[in-house]
Amino acid sequence: MSFNPLRERGIPIEKQFRNWSELNVKPYDKDTVHPFSRCRGIVMNGIEVEAVMFSHNMARHTADPKLKQQLALVRRAEAQQQKAINWLIPGDESTLEVTIGYEQVAVDLTSWVAQHEPDAYLKQVYDFGLLEDFDHLYRYANLLAMTEGKKAEKIVGSLTEIMPGRPTIFEHRDPRDEIRRPMTALAADPQSVLNALTVMAAEQQTMNFYMTIGNRPQEPLARGLYAEIAEIEEQHVSHYESILDPTATWLTNLVMHEYNECWLYWSFMETEPDPRVKATYELHLNMEIEHLRIAVELMKQIENRDAAEFLPKALEQPMVFQENKEYVRKVLAEQVNLTSKESEFLPITDLPDDYRYFDYQAKVNEGGVPSEQVIEQARKQLGEEYRLQTEGGHPVPGLKTEKERKGASTDYASRLAA
Ligand SMILES: [Fe+2]
Ligand SMILES: [Fe+2]
Ligand SMILES: [Fe+2]
Ligand SMILES: [Fe+2]
Repeated sequence: MSFNPLRERGIPIEKQFRNWSELNVKPYDKDTVHPFSRCRGIVMNGIEVEAVMFSHNMARHTADPKLKQQLALVRRAEAQQQKAINWLIPGDESTLEVTIGYEQVAVDLTSWVAQHEPDAYLKQVYDFGLLEDFDHLYRYANLLAMTEGKKAEKIVGSLTEIMPGRPTIFEHRDPRDEIRRPMTALAADPQSVLNALTVMAAEQQTMNFYMTIGNRPQEPLARGLYAEIAEIEEQHVSHYESILDPTATWLTNLVMHEYNECWLYWSFMETEPDPRVKATYELHLNMEIEHLRIAVELMKQIENRDAAEFLPKALEQPMVFQENKEYVRKVLAEQVNLTSKESEFLPITDLPDDYRYFDYQAKVNEGGVPSEQVIEQARKQLGEEYRLQTEGGHPVPGLKTEKERKGASTDYASRLAA
């Protein structure tokens, strides 16, 4: 199976606009939707939000009124695509239930990307982020159990396990230690660029979402948990955006954004079981083929460059949502104790005692940490914390349940070494 969007004919841009009832789509049924269908929708919403915001930013750095008009035209279509995708989420799915979907995306999208990343350093970047979002899923699942009396397995199915990852309390690092080494777009494998653009957009939308809805709950603990995890998502955007090539021109970036949209709609069209949603992905793919054609044309006119020279000959590998339980367990067992220092990853115990990590930790974690309180509270209120471990005991001795071990320490280093 291979696909070359440069060879295809899309829908002419002036024929892409839809009316309000076409955008106000009938939502899915939250009780029967496939968990990975929910995930694909969340990813594509994030991708379309990035398409819109990237285009706005590019327009703000553009003097040429003709280019501004072309950007505006395509951007309006992107904005419509965003509505047609995001309005699939039903009103009776609570904000917290949607949140569980967002973190499932972070786990299974990042796992796929890590396993299909040709560059060893970039793979490490994804593994590192993966364990942090994996932990968020567990914290929110406990909040859901307490505040709405619901089990997160109703949302994730049994496709993704729910248990501690790198504990959120230890994820808070000095912002200067989130900046990674950038790839060079021309030297990097095209898959590396697609991986980075995709995960960055997904994390950015998670950040946007928590920034916006994190103040909607009434319970102080829920508000606190959203505030704390929203800060990690901002940290994740810094982490992922810094791997992209900062020297790529605005037009190169535009071409890569459109190419990435083609890749994802092509991927999801192949795997989506809901025929109505599949048809939407197919429609959007045909729109993206035209967006890409326009971007390539603009690059030719303005920079006198042929995008075919740096784009792959064809797309070979669709992004697939699939179970990654074994992979996540392996990364957990091997990497849970990592932290970062500048652009490198190292065991937390290798940090010098006076490193800025500890100052930042002391500052933000002073006076109580919601991601810890939510588990303490769940143990009190529910008798035990909520987990979904379909494949057995936790792979990290220090993160096993009370039942799985005896005498846990709360000290990170000894908890992990235990
Ligand atoms: Fe789009
Ligand atoms: Fe997260
Ligand atoms: Fe994240
Ligand atoms: Fe597009």
